[in-house]
Amino acid sequence: MLHDKDSVGKRLDDDIFASLDASVRLPKYKMPEQEHNPRVIHRLVADELLLDGNSRQNLATFCQTWLEPEVLDLMTLTVDKNLVDKDEYPQTAEIEKRCVHILADLWNSPDSANATGTSTTGSSEAAMLGGMALLWNWRARQKAQGKSIEKPNLVTGPVQVCWHKFCRYWGVELREIPMENDRYIMNADEVIKRCDENTIGVVPTLGVTFTGQFEPVKEVSDALDKLEGDAGLNIPIHVDGASGGFLAPFLQPELVWDFRLPRVKSINASGHKFGLAPLGVGWILWHNAEDLPEDLVFRVNYLGGDMVDFALNFSRPGSQVVAQYYNFLRLGKEGYRRIHSTCRDIALYLADGIGDFGPFEIIYDGSDGIPALSWKLKEGVEHTFNLYDFADRLKTRGWQVPAYALPPNREDLVIQRILVRHGFSRDMADLLLDDCKRALNHLNSHPVTTSLTEEEGSGFKHG
Ligand SMILES: Cc1ncc(COP(=O)(O)O)c(C=O)c1O
Repeated sequence: MLHDKDSVGKRLDDDIFASLDASVRLPKYKMPEQEHNPRVIHRLVADELLLDGNSRQNLATFCQTWLEPEVLDLMTLTVDKNLVDKDEYPQTAEIEKRCVHILADLWNSPDSANATGTSTTGSSEAAMLGGMALLWNWRARQKAQGKSIEKPNLVTGPVQVCWHKFCRYWGVELREIPMENDRYIMNADEVIKRCDENTIGVVPTLGVTFTGQFEPVKEVSDALDKLEGDAGLNIPIHVDGASGGFLAPFLQPELVWDFRLPRVKSINASGHKFGLAPLGVGWILWHNAEDLPEDLVFRVNYLGGDMVDFALNFSRPGSQVVAQYYNFLRLGKEGYRRIHSTCRDIALYLADGIGDFGPFEIIYDGSDGIPALSWKLKEGVEHTFNLYDFADRLKTRGWQVPAYALPPNREDLVIQRILVRHGFSRDMADLLLDDCKRALNHLNSHPVTTSLTEEEGSGFKHG
């Protein structure tokens, strides 16, 4: 418990660390009875956070860890504005709409000025909304044909956990295509094998979480066109563009993956990943207004005005959306292209450096998907350590470079991955390579007697 002496509040000039409030442990289970000096409490809480990792050295996360000061300022201006309160804060609402239109244009929507979409808290909420629209539309199609709505299924490649959640929450069978040998993503044949009249949709991922690769949306869409011609099954696509939705338009504009394909009915992306916005914003857009079932749209009147709402969340600060709009204007297409291609060049540079060390084989080098790289230990060679040991050594210098086993059917394979994000400079890449060398030297001169296991090694989430 903090001290609850009456005198505490009066001794405002005390040195923070010599003060009574700082002389005891912070309460962990019960709220203190009295108020305390804000200056002291702020310092103590801020100091607890010193024990967190350094986010810029967290090479596991896809999310933004570097923000311009102007972004922080705009966020302060909007942190108290509730995004859902569109009547009270019409300009914040207008900015959200503009972002939807800008994204619709980037994703080649046929009618971007009238696009249907919304911001969300991230790709997980967006995926949930996209999945629900697929499910509702499938039910309507089945009912119209007098068919059962008992057994919906969703076909995906190796997906992020949000799709596992969607399927479990909504009673949908997940037909997740397993990895096979050196194939770490879906292909058209594997998709078609799993489709039937109960398939609510197919979800290719543009930037697979485990390796960084883009799944072949057009190839899958063409195969589904053929399936429709052959068997009369009309199966829609939702693209999980959590990362790729903000990369492909700038790095690979010729890649056809978006609303240019009529079968792509919806797309989600994380503003807070390669959208370069601060944590807490994602997006979902539909091809046409009719792809979002009316039934999922709510109208509320109790915040003033008649407001349309289609999200899982309700109240949320406007800050992240405003910051997203700032980035669109501040960077323009040229800025996004330059930032992402710099990250891609650094990923390629790191892949070269890590490949040259000897024990590692690069699986993905960042050239045609996410600016990221992943590698495994070379097969058929004796190693004195495993990738969990290597990750552990890198942590001693603050680098978080996760090692993890792949999902089915390659659980036997442990890989390591680095995400190169805005704010990771070429100089930092050289510092990291030096530290990799140092870690390898250490592991060679102090052979590991008992290697770390997956549980001991990382405790890491893909996000
Ligand atoms: C492909 C993919 N989809 C969805 C998500 C979930 O995104 P968010 O963290 O924005 O909810 C991630 C997160 O890494 C992802 O990589």
